[in-house]
Amino acid sequence: MTIATATAFRPPAPQPHEKPLGLFGRIAALRRNPIELWAREHYESRVTVNRSGTRALVSDPAGIRRIFVDNAANYYKDDLQLRMLRPSPGNDLLTAEADDWRLQRRLLAPMFTPRQIAAFAPVMAEAAQQGVELLRRREDRHIDLLQEMARLAFEMLNHTLFSSGLGCDAGEFHRALTDYLNIYARMSLWDLTGLPPLLPRRGQRKGRAALAVLDKAVNETIDARRKLIAAGRTPPRDVLTLLLEARDPDTGHDISEAVLRANTGSFIGAGHENTANGLTWTLYLLSQSPYWRNRVETEAESEVDAGPLETLPDRLPVTKAVLEEALRLYPPASILTRKAIAADEIGGKLIQPGTMVTIAPFVLHRHRTLWDRPDEFDPTRFLPGIRNRIDRFAYIPFGIGPRVCIGMGFAQQESVVALAHLARAFRFELKPGHRVRPMHRISLRPHGGMPMIIHTR
Ligand code: HEM
Repeated sequence: MTIATATAFRPPAPQPHEKPLGLFGRIAALRRNPIELWAREHYESRVTVNRSGTRALVSDPAGIRRIFVDNAANYYKDDLQLRMLRPSPGNDLLTAEADDWRLQRRLLAPMFTPRQIAAFAPVMAEAAQQGVELLRRREDRHIDLLQEMARLAFEMLNHTLFSSGLGCDAGEFHRALTDYLNIYARMSLWDLTGLPPLLPRRGQRKGRAALAVLDKAVNETIDARRKLIAAGRTPPRDVLTLLLEARDPDTGHDISEAVLRANTGSFIGAGHENTANGLTWTLYLLSQSPYWRNRVETEAESEVDAGPLETLPDRLPVTKAVLEEALRLYPPASILTRKAIAADEIGGKLIQPGTMVTIAPFVLHRHRTLWDRPDEFDPTRFLPGIRNRIDRFAYIPFGIGPRVCIGMGFAQQESVVALAHLARAFRFELKPGHRVRPMHRISLRPHGGMPMIIHTR
């Protein structure tokens, strides 16, 4: 695919190593920042398997189709990922497998139908406008955009999936989640070797304090809803009510308290963290690209008030293309992993039982054989009429197949609505001298936040 525009630029990304790293280099990169792991050959070959056959990196669209769709039952989430995703005991939708997963997915799917999501559009617009008003009132023009986007994504959840409110403050929750990710989502030597921990994790005390804040938020959210039901009031039909009403089809019992708590926590966490990161990367890219910033601003000015809010996302093709390009270059879920159960063949290479298979959207989306000028920011690729040239297994910011992100439609809609409102109201300028560095901690965040100066338009 060849698209040439004079407007493209190359945003920061780790320089691929000339040669694959040795054992110690790998361990250091995995601990420091896993997206600094790969070498040139990983961006050029579609399937690489290490000599002992224990690890594979797959960037082959046909292979990705096999892993996530045609032979999905053969690939489970691997133990390392589960340890990092699971702050509390109990399987949630993110971490469950087989029948356990099927039951939860069926239960929660009604919240995420296209009709249901479209019905959220006016509430999302209201939350976005409130976010704009809050930013407008800030006297200090210097902000951490990441914190602000986390607050906004949190408020969107507060008004939609958890419609009678989350039992916590957005800022406090995000700070605790940041501490948690910095400590538990950073691989320790024990995680990498699979040995039982002999030494406490660095920052354990801070980590425990962060977990306590996250647990308290979950408990208070659930308690408030139970009190509402006990008082005889009709609860809103949202994610929490669906979970509270869920019954195990075999036993007829309620779902366990642990599953209820784990899902509530992961919906709050997954529901705002990835969206906040995606929006932050998008606004950063726009701050560096006057051409696309002007196009998004023009579209927002002409469309936001020009028709019913339910149709707003469809009226913003340029804004959508910019968001999709941002998720290509900086996919919040930049590394997905699976463990092969039985032997398989991917791209002509043998995958042994037990092999840890990595599908890294960060590599796939910049793969030299799949994209033209892969490291350049150019939303043209995603404009209507051009986007259909992209192989759907070469672009997977939300995963693909039966375990595709359940919140995909929700996240796309809230992001497009939020971006249009923000672009209409403000221009964001990166703090002069700040060096932007993408850092993977379960989600791809800008290291040290994203310091920006806001200018009212
Ligand atoms: C830009 C925003 C988002 C991105 C990039 C994203 C990305 C992803 C990806 C890649 C997966 C698949 C993981 C895998 O296959 O290993 C996933 C799963 C999931 N996401 Fe998202 N997500 C986003 C927003 C959301 C939101 C808003 C919610 C909830 C409201 C959510 C809830 C979930 C859940 C519960 C799963 C597990 C689904 C399952 O296994 O059945 N995500 N997400």
